[in-house]
Amino acid sequence: MNANARDLAPDLAADLAANFDIEKLTGEFYADPYPTYRALREHAPVKLMPNGSRFLTRYDDLVTAYKNTKLFSSDKRREFLPKYGNSPLYEHHTTSLVFNDPPAHTRVRRLIMGALSPRAIAGMEPDLIALVDRLLDAIAAKRRFELIGDFAAAIPIEVIGNLLDVPRDEREPLRDWSLAILGALEPVISAQAFARGNKAVTDFLSYLELLVDRRRAKPGNPDRDVLTCLIQGEDNGERLTAKELLHNCIFLLNAGHETTTNLIGNGLVALSEHPAQKKRLIEHPAMIKTAVEEILRFESSNQLGNRMTTGPVELGGVALPAGTPVTLCIGAANRDPLQFSDPEHLDIARTPNRHLAFATGAHQCAGMALARLEGGITISRFLARFPDYALNGPPIRGGRARFRGFLSVPCVI
Ligand code: HEM
Repeated sequence: MNANARDLAPDLAADLAANFDIEKLTGEFYADPYPTYRALREHAPVKLMPNGSRFLTRYDDLVTAYKNTKLFSSDKRREFLPKYGNSPLYEHHTTSLVFNDPPAHTRVRRLIMGALSPRAIAGMEPDLIALVDRLLDAIAAKRRFELIGDFAAAIPIEVIGNLLDVPRDEREPLRDWSLAILGALEPVISAQAFARGNKAVTDFLSYLELLVDRRRAKPGNPDRDVLTCLIQGEDNGERLTAKELLHNCIFLLNAGHETTTNLIGNGLVALSEHPAQKKRLIEHPAMIKTAVEEILRFESSNQLGNRMTTGPVELGGVALPAGTPVTLCIGAANRDPLQFSDPEHLDIARTPNRHLAFATGAHQCAGMALARLEGGITISRFLARFPDYALNGPPIRGGRARFRGFLSVPCVI
């Protein structure tokens, strides 16, 4: 698959770049977007889409956009109104901190970063290890298993359930709500996906109202319980409003769920496809830190970000007027040869590795320490227990451009 990205004939690459349309993605693209990303980086790095937006693929251009929140706005009110109308999805996405600009963003982010403190995250490690080991025991008893459902997806949902202290027997709907809400962020969505997303926001809000009422009546330990910390937290005398609190709890659950599932799934699939790197990691378990960074770079679980220009700006030699929507292609930037040597190659010891999987600048992922902890513990314990795991049939991709991962991966140990 990666040979393609290196070897595409120049005229084919030019054609691929010329015909690329984010609203008309093909099955081939979903299976392997990297040849297209390479073609775009080389032939049209600030590619004009038929819908008037721009698609950015060069590392330096993404960094420029991420770092300049004044000229590249994250506020999605204008963009999402025609897409969602005045719907629960619209209210949810436009209240999430990720889709706001300073100063609203700064206040909410400070409160959330305060709640996701190093102490709260370190406190999660023993439960995480116990959970991973329980799942590994269940896999050992089965021998044939499904990597995503039986393992990768089971971890983040429990971790975030613990983070907000959601009672165990109330966690079941969280995953489907999260998938439905994030699914509605795809570049094009069906009427069904729109209806599913709206219902998920409404059901999730009703559930969280109950949870917050219970927590107000009986607060937890704010050092460990992120929900209690968010309810009690103050920034310059201001707390989150009731609406901000509920929507940002939904956002936290969503942000940390599919992305981390995909880090684990993408990592274990990539290692099985690169046996020499897998062997190297098994022989040198201390490499797990750089290995997780490399997996994040090589198969970034969040591939696309979005911004809107607020004034005229030049990027990669192209003049963009105010009001231009731009898509920041993390998957392409993370394979930019001007930043990474031999970028189509998976190298678990790669250093330096300044990938953009967590973005950079004011909106850089607020949960990256937790994601790294989850990825490291999960992948290293899985490899130590089942060094000979193998794929036992074709993995099925999720078919999404924004969140890259697998729906199911049949495996055997
Ligand atoms: C492998 C796992 C993860 C990846 C690849 C990832 C990636 C990202 C990216 C690219 C952004 C920036 C979006 C933008 O501005 O365009 C982001 C933001 C964010 N992420 Fe993550 N994330 C992961 C896990 C998590 C986890 C576990 C949590 C929390 C529990 C989390 C919470 C957040 C929050 C709150 C933001 C918004 C920050 C802001 O706007 O200031 N993420 N993430």
